[in-house]
Amino acid sequence: MRMANPKTATASAPATVANVSCGFDVFGFAVARPADEVRIALTPTTDVRIISITGDQGILPTDASKNTAGVAVQMYLSHTGWKTGVNLELRKNLPLGSGMGSSAASAVAAVLAINALHPQPMLRKDLLPFALEAERVACGAAHADNAAPSLLGGFTLIRSYNPLDVVPIACPPELHCVLVHPHIEVKTKDARNVMKTSVPMRDAITQWGNTAGLVAGLLTSDFELIGRSLQDVVAEPVRALLIPGFHRIQHRAKEVGALGCGISGSGPSLFALTRGSETAHAVGHAIQTEFANAGLASDVFVSEINLTGAQVYDVV
Ligand code: HSE
Repeated sequence: MRMANPKTATASAPATVANVSCGFDVFGFAVARPADEVRIALTPTTDVRIISITGDQGILPTDASKNTAGVAVQMYLSHTGWKTGVNLELRKNLPLGSGMGSSAASAVAAVLAINALHPQPMLRKDLLPFALEAERVACGAAHADNAAPSLLGGFTLIRSYNPLDVVPIACPPELHCVLVHPHIEVKTKDARNVMKTSVPMRDAITQWGNTAGLVAGLLTSDFELIGRSLQDVVAEPVRALLIPGFHRIQHRAKEVGALGCGISGSGPSLFALTRGSETAHAVGHAIQTEFANAGLASDVFVSEINLTGAQVYDVV
């Protein structure tokens, strides 16, 4: 039961894999961990203050208008016309510039926590635009393929941006994700700037075929089709250059049994999809070994697709 007039709430929002190879800016799914956490306390002022950030090595801005968690809360307060002060504490568990949806996770956790304290909370799905404004501040583009799955869980398709139309896509329960984060940083803004501004027709046709193929494969649990569709001829060819050993690693992941392997979001993390957790662990180990051969330490996260998404708790 919800307490009357709660004053503090904490929320966590998980890492996500955006693009999923063929769906640049339109596909994303949530994984089990890591997840960012935000605690919000209402105050009698009208300021949004970030009073602590841990886990970021002092890198993130504490000015609320420059931090994705702060921006999402400011947008929420301005949209709802709610005059309240906010003290925000952010625990970063996602690495920065990793391609794991770090900026989105902070924004999603923050907006979910503030919404839990509002006398008339909005529906969860209606919170997405506030997180997107935060993404715009973070990288110059309000892409939704991290924020939507982090907020809503599962595999999401951004069918349209204007108007925003997010469609959940059911996944086979056996589907597992391997996410490997090498210890280098790639800023989303930079990874977007290297993209070409137009796509040749033959590449567009390949990409359209694969996006539809991936959705069909997920909905019918056709793992071979999922694997054949995990191909990216738009972003990967240019972004692979930012990731040492990318093509070798991709090849090795498939050799060990991955359905497919690609760049997670804007990188440098890589993701692979597998059928079952045993193969997922083997693929994770193989990718980590290849990164080590390229001189890079890395972290491996194996999980099912996270169907729950962000969670709110400790509302008191
Ligand atoms: N779709 C975005 C991009 C995801 O690839 O730039 C960023 O994580």
